[in-house]
Amino acid sequence: METSSFGIAIMAAGKGTRLKSRRPKVLHEIGGQSLLLHVIAAAKTIAPASQIFCIIGHEADQVRAAVASTGVSFVLQADQRGTGHALQQLKAHFIATGQTPPENLLVLSGDVPLIKPSTLEELCAFHLAQRAAMTILTATPPNPTGYGRVLRSSDAAPEVTAIVEQKSLKPDQLNAPEINSGIYCFRTSALFTHLDSLSTTNAHGEFYLTDVAALLVADNQRVVALKSSGSVDEVLGANTIEEMMHLDAAMRLATARRLMAQGVTIFRPETCVIDAQVEIGPDTVIEPYVQILGSTKVGSDCRFASYTVVQDAQIGDKVLLRNGCIVLQSTIGSGAKLGPYAHLRPESEIGEEAHIGNFVETKKVKMGRGSKANHLSYLGDSTIGSGVNIGAGTITCNYDGTHKHQTVIGNNAFIGSNSTLVAPINIGDEAYIAAASCITEDVPADALSLGRSRQTTKPGWVSNRKRTQRPSCD
Ligand code: UD1
Ligand code: CA
Repeated sequence: METSSFGIAIMAAGKGTRLKSRRPKVLHEIGGQSLLLHVIAAAKTIAPASQIFCIIGHEADQVRAAVASTGVSFVLQADQRGTGHALQQLKAHFIATGQTPPENLLVLSGDVPLIKPSTLEELCAFHLAQRAAMTILTATPPNPTGYGRVLRSSDAAPEVTAIVEQKSLKPDQLNAPEINSGIYCFRTSALFTHLDSLSTTNAHGEFYLTDVAALLVADNQRVVALKSSGSVDEVLGANTIEEMMHLDAAMRLATARRLMAQGVTIFRPETCVIDAQVEIGPDTVIEPYVQILGSTKVGSDCRFASYTVVQDAQIGDKVLLRNGCIVLQSTIGSGAKLGPYAHLRPESEIGEEAHIGNFVETKKVKMGRGSKANHLSYLGDSTIGSGVNIGAGTITCNYDGTHKHQTVIGNNAFIGSNSTLVAPINIGDEAYIAAASCITEDVPADALSLGRSRQTTKPGWVSNRKRTQRPSCD
């Protein structure tokens, strides 16, 4: 479909009063990403970033910073006086900059985040085919309350006579089933001609973009509606936290369905929290109550047991995460086994076939192939070779109160249980550290190092003590 004549306006200046939140509405997240980023992603499938105009106002700097990396343009709506007023600012922007407006304008709402590219394409094609001045995307959800209603000249006709906002519905219109999605196509010249005729004589005292429909009809211009052929969720708005969470659940279920269609087994998907961008290979099994977040990529044949949380991680094939692992901004090589209750803090790089066991915490650690730290350790700011055994309770003392220091452990070294490695420290290849050692000096390759006091044993000490102890007075 030819969409090159389309520019896109995204209305994102509103405060979101009904959310009762300090955060601007369009920066609230569903499926792990802000509403506005979802809308921009859909917009970019129709037009290049240079033709996408994001209208911002409430907390404009915060909103701009949050989406600047997408490359879209911004238009400021300093006071938010309604959706019609938002588009008036876009018109003023074109006049002030001398930029030529696009022939057609696709208008999106920053709080309608589930809209699919295919539906937008269908809308743009319909708009062109109908040679309309305005085309409204509509739906008939089970409960239309709260939405503007689209009134057609007759049920079967595409022609629209008006859009009536909820608060202005007459008693006999209260059950009108067809809602305005807040997504429209305009012939830009027709829109711009009528924007200045909008008034604020309505329940909210705002300039309603929806009133443009009746103005165009009065001017004998063609206004039509297209009922969305996609799921109703696609066109639902998020005005309250409850509505937002409904959309979040819908989006996550769609993500789970996409992954299941690609061969991933997800038990009880409704209990899992999987962000929209996550990629998982086939034959990986996700148990109930798992969270997989951010930009995480997972290979095939893995298993994530319940209560595991993985964020922004790269995970190879055949990786086992037992119950309750937390993996943040880290990399895990194929065949590694972790947990239960392993905690990988950012920049942990766990090699292939490595084992990280229960209650082991890592941070900025590079661990080589087949190395093991199976129980109760803290490994931070360390480079650990391959085939290393880290005994239970080993701690790298990486912080002197001011600076962080490195621990380096060579290939096939053996670190006895309960060792304390005071960084900066180097332990050579194949070296042995005796259990319960406090190691403060470098250990060369091939050496055994003991850093503990000798054991003293006093035979018969207990019975001697009992004999010499006086009986208590009380
Ligand atoms: C709007 C429509 C309604 C439709 C519904 C669909 C109007 C008057 N009503 O109502 O018919 O059924 O969307 O979801 O348009 N915004 C600005 N500047 C402003 C005001 C709003 O940019 O001055 C932005 C908001 O940030 C939001 C979008 O426009 O992203 C829609 O505004 P909102 O106040 O949520 O409109 P609704 O009451 O939902
Ligand atoms: Ca809304």
